[in-house]
Amino acid sequence: MVKAGIVGFGYMGRFHLRKSRLCEGIEVVAVYDVDKSKAGEAQQEGLIAARSLDELLGMEEISLILVCTPNDSHRDITIAALRAGKNVMCEKPATMNAREAEEVVAEAEKAGRFYTIHQNRRWDTDYLLVKKVLAEKTIGNYTTINSWVYGQRGVCFGWRADPEKGGGMLYDWGVHLIDQMLNLYPECKVDRVFGRLESILTPAVDDFFEAKLFFDNGVCANISVGTFSLQETPRWMVFGDRGTLKLDDFDWLSGTMARIREKVYGFDSVYFKSNLGPSRTMAPLAPEMIEKLELPVIEEEPLTFYRNLVASVQGDETPFVTHGEIVRDMKIIDAIKLSDQTRQVVTLGI
Ligand SMILES: NC(=O)c1ccc[n+]([C@@H]2O[C@H](COP(=O)([O-])OP(=O)(O)OC[C@H]3O[C@@H](n4cnc5c(N)ncnc54)[C@H](O)[C@@H]3O)[C@@H](O)[C@H]2O)c1
Repeated sequence: MVKAGIVGFGYMGRFHLRKSRLCEGIEVVAVYDVDKSKAGEAQQEGLIAARSLDELLGMEEISLILVCTPNDSHRDITIAALRAGKNVMCEKPATMNAREAEEVVAEAEKAGRFYTIHQNRRWDTDYLLVKKVLAEKTIGNYTTINSWVYGQRGVCFGWRADPEKGGGMLYDWGVHLIDQMLNLYPECKVDRVFGRLESILTPAVDDFFEAKLFFDNGVCANISVGTFSLQETPRWMVFGDRGTLKLDDFDWLSGTMARIREKVYGFDSVYFKSNLGPSRTMAPLAPEMIEKLELPVIEEEPLTFYRNLVASVQGDETPFVTHGEIVRDMKIIDAIKLSDQTRQVVTLGI
């Protein structure tokens, strides 16, 4: 049985407690939170409430620390845990920048313990569907992928509104969506990056951002996150040279995919559309030229990340989210920020 300790018993601390209770081979035994009121909550769950980080890290039975605190504290807590001889799974983003991520990776290698990041959205079913459609070339060769997440509430809450704590949407949702994109093409490099960050309704941090990642295979990934949109936007759009996929939500069922029929190449059918005005380029195709495709079935994998975590502590597997990926995610974040500051596209080749 892998015994684990949680640092930061807020929303994600509780999430990891629930997950661990669904997965065989792991038991969370203790918690540390700077907010003393969390001690009672931990005890109600049958957990030891450590009075300090050192006390938690000094518990010999614990071999895994789950870091679930605000983003600015990830580096220091992770390094302290590694130096105490623990394996670490830290919440995303790994750190505040790539330099810090490299520092933590070096500490993990020195300590001979594993260090990984909770990139749970690699197993979202909408993402797995996009990955499958790309791999199988269902709608041809790909040019453009849009990954958009928009909410309605307008503002970032609590520490997410504080730049010192690592607030803002680029660190919050951005790091998930970037990690997903990089894992669509793990063998490709990102040549160039464009970024634009805005504070629309939350002062001090970005409550909206957009980023473009240009892969060296010619695909452009458009990522955009906003906290205020009162109109629904698709979660994903994937443009192939034989068809198009649209996913509306965070699952594999709510979308549509269409492809041009096999023998159709000239796209010469012009179907009259009254409000379009004079344009042949933008005129729709005749319906019989288009084939509506079933979306592939995607199995849910709610515990895959956790099972790998447990197997990694036991030495039977290595963590899915690797050191190279952790640093690369943060390098892309740095490049997006630099692009926003300089109003330039940033050349990378990573
Ligand atoms: N992977 C995901 O899907 C996902 C989703 C949400 C949040 N997160 C990440 O999880 C982390 C926590 O987010 P949250 O929403 O749970 O925040 P939260 O505010 O709900 O909880 C954070 C907890 O950490 C405690 N804390 C703060 N500083 C501490 C310190 N130095 N030592 C010990 N405890 C400390 C706070 O008192 C609080 O109880 C963030 O890094 C966030 O980006 C990940």
